[in-house]
Formats: sequence, structure tokens, C-alpha cells
Amino acid sequence: MTNKREQAACLSEKDFKFICQYVYESAGIVLNEGKREMVYRRITRIVRERNLDSFTAYCQILRESPEAEKSYFINAITTNLTSFFRENHHFEYLLKSELPKLLRQNPGPHRRKGDKRLRIWSSAASTGEEPYSIAMTLLEGMKTELKQWDVKILATDIDSNVLATAKKGIYENKRTEDISANFKQKYFHRGMAGNASKVKVDKSLQDLITFKQLNLLHEWPMKGLFDVIFCRNVIIYFDKSTQQDLFARYYEMLTPGGLLILGHSENLGAYQKYFENVGRTIFRKTINSNL
Ligand SMILES: C[S@@+](CC[C@H](N)C(=O)[O-])C[C@H]1O[C@@H](n2cnc3c(N)ncnc32)[C@H](O)[C@@H]1O
Repeated sequence: MTNKREQAACLSEKDFKFICQYVYESAGIVLNEGKREMVYRRITRIVRERNLDSFTAYCQILRESPEAEKSYFINAITTNLTSFFRENHHFEYLLKSELPKLLRQNPGPHRRKGDKRLRIWSSAASTGEEPYSIAMTLLEGMKTELKQWDVKILATDIDSNVLATAKKGIYENKRTEDISANFKQKYFHRGMAGNASKVKVDKSLQDLITFKQLNLLHEWPMKGLFDVIFCRNVIIYFDKSTQQDLFARYYEMLTPGGLLILGHSENLGAYQKYFENVGRTIFRKTINSNL
């Protein structure tokens, strides 16, 4: 029996290089030798599904690919690992520091347009656990005050499959095991009969979120600025120059004093000087800085 490494070697150098370039140009994702087995596994699935006789045949389809094929392939190649309250210190910071500060700074009833407005962007939302965790944090932190506020969460991802799951808000119950009993009881509904192993998020969470497909490398059509941007565990897939371009764009999309939240192994590099580090991988846009 051949081992996985030998099997992955069946993917010719030419086809592997083409795929790496295709994925880089389409999604900014850098694939290198270390990802060969993963690429092999994911493409093998497609080649089998399509009844093709070789990887080269699929590469040819990609070369001539219409947008639909590109989307299908990028969906297959993205890594969508996520969980509810992943890196919980980010949600704790929102709950215990940022929301109380916002509520203190905006007391009393809504007066002017733009008053009591809160915009949060989950920019690599995957299957939705991140935006739903943000929504639960807002409901907990703002309580009855939330009704007086204009609050919206935008959740985007390049992958249309994960977004479809996110929109439905239905998960295997075991994915919610680490959520506190209190939150589970408030924000999740147990499925019945054939769906007994599943839960659905409460409508109060879904009402706060808009899901949209967005490739971070493309133009961002959003008009207004965001108070908080989650950019977690996505830039690690990009090279330094793509990362720096994105940081410049995130910076422009933040309100002065807004927060940019990165994943545990990510950092701002040269852009650190435009932000204050206020917590573990939590960065505040400095009020008077200009790029
Ligand atoms: C590992 S998940 C991170 C999910 C979540 N932010 C978290 O930290 O749990 C990375 C996500 O980034 C998305 N992604 C990769 N390249 C992208 C791009 N160019 N534009 C938008 N999303 C992208 C993938 O589809 C995937 O769902």
C-alpha cells in the first residue's frame, strides 16, 4: 500500500504549481509543499465526483473555468475550522470592557442620527459560530439597552457553502458542548424527532446578522465604518504583502478608536504603529493616526 505522501506525489509538479497559482490569484491563499497532501485529498474528491481520469483533466477544467467552477473549487480548498466562542478572551473583552464603555459614553435615549450606532464585521465568518458568538455577547452585554441602539453585524466569507450553513444557524448539538448552560438555554433550540441531535440558534441572534459572500481580495462594497472588525484566523493563509494591504484597508474601514481583532497566531507587522494593543490580539485604531 502506498502511503499518503507517495499518493500525493501522483499529483504532478506542473499540476500542483498550477493549482497553487490559481488559488493564490483567486483567494490570496498561499499553498506550499506542506499543503500538498491536503490539496491532493481535496482534489481527489472532486476528480472522483466528476468521473475524471486525472488531476490534469481537472486542471484543464479550471483553466477554462467559468466563475461557478472557481467558486466550487475555492469552497473545496478553504479551511473552515471554527467554533463558538473560539478564543473566548475576545468576547470577554467585548462584554466586560468595550460594551460597558459604549453604554457609558452614550447614555439616555437615542437623540441624533448616528447616535447609538454599533457596527461589527466578522470578515471570515466561516460556518457562523463567530458572528453568532458576537451576537450572544451583544445581547448579554447590552440587555434591554440593545433595543435603543442601531446594531448590525455583517458576516462575510469567500466560501458560499459555509455561508449557507451559517445562514441556517443549525448545528450538531455537540458543537455547542462548550457553551455555558445559561447561553445554551437562552439562545439555542433543540431539534425534534429526526433532528434531536441538532440545535438551531434563536431568531434574536439571526436578526442582528447579515450574511454576505465577500472575497477579501476584492472590492469591499460596504459604505459605513465599523466599530469592531473580527479578522481572525484568515490572514495566516495569506502572504505578507496581502496581509499588509488588508491591514491598510481594515484601518480605513474602522471608526477612530475602533477595534481590530486578530487570531491567536496573527500580528499586525508594520501596521502595529497605527494601533494600540489593548488585549491579547486586540488592537485599537489610534484616534489621531493617519496612514
Ligand atoms: C479558519 S476559518 C476562520 C473562521 C473564524 N474567523 C474563526 O476564527 O473561527 C478561515 C475562513 O477564511 C475564509 N477565507 C479564506 N480566504 C478568504 C478570502 N480571500 N476572502 C474571504 N474569506 C476567506 C475561509 O473560507 C474560512 O471560512
